Amino acid sequence: MIDRILLSESEIAARLDALADEIDAAYSGRELLAVGILKGSVFFLTDLLKRLKTPVALDFLQVRSYSGTSSSGNIQLVHDLSMDVASRDVLVFEDVVDTGLTLRKILDLLSSRGPRTLRIAALLKKDLPENADLAIDFLGFTIGPEFVVGYGLDLDERYRNLPHVAVWDPTR
Ligand code: IMP
Repeated sequence: MIDRILLSESEIAARLDALADEIDAAYSGRELLAVGILKGSVFFLTDLLKRLKTPVALDFLQVRSYSGTSSSGNIQLVHDLSMDVASRDVLVFEDVVDTGLTLRKILDLLSSRGPRTLRIAALLKKDLPENADLAIDFLGFTIGPEFVVGYGLDLDERYRNLPHVAVWDPTR
């Protein structure tokens, strides 16, 4: 049911090189607190953090929002951060922004805790009206509305370890 490779390993690597430069420039002289949204962002997060010169602390949070290939709209916090974000430069790592509901919920939660800055890095953003007003500070790629898997992205826990991003087509 894997239709085609949308983003190859080398395309992703080249984009991460450029994103790392942008992030280093934006946080010059600061220390970042990278917040990974489990589980999908892990591949993107670790590959990107290895490229940074900026000092980084790392924490994770997990929300549950999806079952199958459609958003349930019902987002629950499964694991909270272990670190305090108050007065820190927080950069949230998300795998894909679809409706944007997950990210909005996480941004509301974290901004209520008083970070010095709060920004977003996302590997993918789907080109949809629902998320059009959600500005992504560091974006890997804009993609179409298809469901994608690989490079951390799953379908019911499968395909995360593909080295590329592929389109999943239920009709194949
Ligand atoms: P949103 O709340 O609709 O923006 O959905 C965000 C979350 O849904 C992501 O963090 C993913 O876990 C999941 N998701 C959305 N679209 C896809 C996709 O195409 N493939 C895999 N997971 C997806």
